[in-house]
Amino acid sequence: MHSKIFDILAEVEELLDREHLFYGHGTNCARDEALAMVLSVFDLNYPVDNDLLSLLPSSEQWLDLNELLSQRIFTKMPLPYLTNKAYFCEHKFFVDDRVLIPRSPIAELIKNNLEPWVNIKRVKKVLEIGTGSGCIALSMAMKFPHLEIVATDISKRALEVAKINTKAMKLENRVKLIKADLFTNLSGCFDLIISNPPYVAREIFENLPTEYSFEPQKALVAGENGLDFISRILQDAPPFLNDDGVLIIEAGVASTEVERVYNLPFTWISFEHGGEGVALIEAKHLE
Ligand SMILES: C[S@@+](CC[C@H](N)C(=O)[O-])C[C@H]1O[C@@H](n2cnc3c(N)ncnc32)[C@H](O)[C@@H]1O
Repeated sequence: MHSKIFDILAEVEELLDREHLFYGHGTNCARDEALAMVLSVFDLNYPVDNDLLSLLPSSEQWLDLNELLSQRIFTKMPLPYLTNKAYFCEHKFFVDDRVLIPRSPIAELIKNNLEPWVNIKRVKKVLEIGTGSGCIALSMAMKFPHLEIVATDISKRALEVAKINTKAMKLENRVKLIKADLFTNLSGCFDLIISNPPYVAREIFENLPTEYSFEPQKALVAGENGLDFISRILQDAPPFLNDDGVLIIEAGVASTEVERVYNLPFTWISFEHGGEGVALIEAKHLE
């Protein structure tokens, strides 16, 4: 009862470590998850301030932490759904089970100004397909104030969450949310189309850890080989791209299948901080 937050962190890590939990929804291991849990309960933010970790928690905070820990362990629900918080490009997003938990390696690309792959200064109009929580579109709007962004999703429920985040980040004038099945309801041409579409083959999805079962299936599953949406995007993108435009598309576990099926000159983006399976292709190669 008299432990400092710092000691509690170590205890939480140890308790999590004993359980068969899956990490990968915003945290990568028991240590990361313990930190996220403790920061949430004590209402602290990243980057961690070590002085604050030496504070003593109140009894109410102790109870909240115990409650959160048991829910995580017994239900296996990913932590961001329990705390309604997820971090992407260092921004805090509201999330719940209407949206996929943000974790795309595209975050690193945005933080690096899309370099050396795209000259962002030459990009004016961006379309994000399948925005979910809005994490990609909104992080781009924050990082690149000159961009005009359209973000779509087929899910009305996901768009409700994207709207909450758009309002919280005061980006209603810069990011336009549209309900659309890929390119339907859209007009105009874009310099950049970016998408992290569903790409998990049905059979792979059925064998994923329990944590994934809390996420919307329509954010993950993409038919028998994972290509249902990627194929449609590759095929339908050309009229929506300017001549010197580019498409950046995450294919994740379906990357090998994409390479096998399409004889296209994809550039596979390399990431320093983990993640793979994000391809870039120029408009002129999609025609
Ligand atoms: C993998 S999630 C990505 C969410 C978010 N962009 C991110 O990176 O965290 C895919 C998103 O695509 C949406 N989606 C699925 N089918 C779609 C379609 N036919 N048209 C537009 N969006 C679709 C899902 O609702 C989901 O929000």
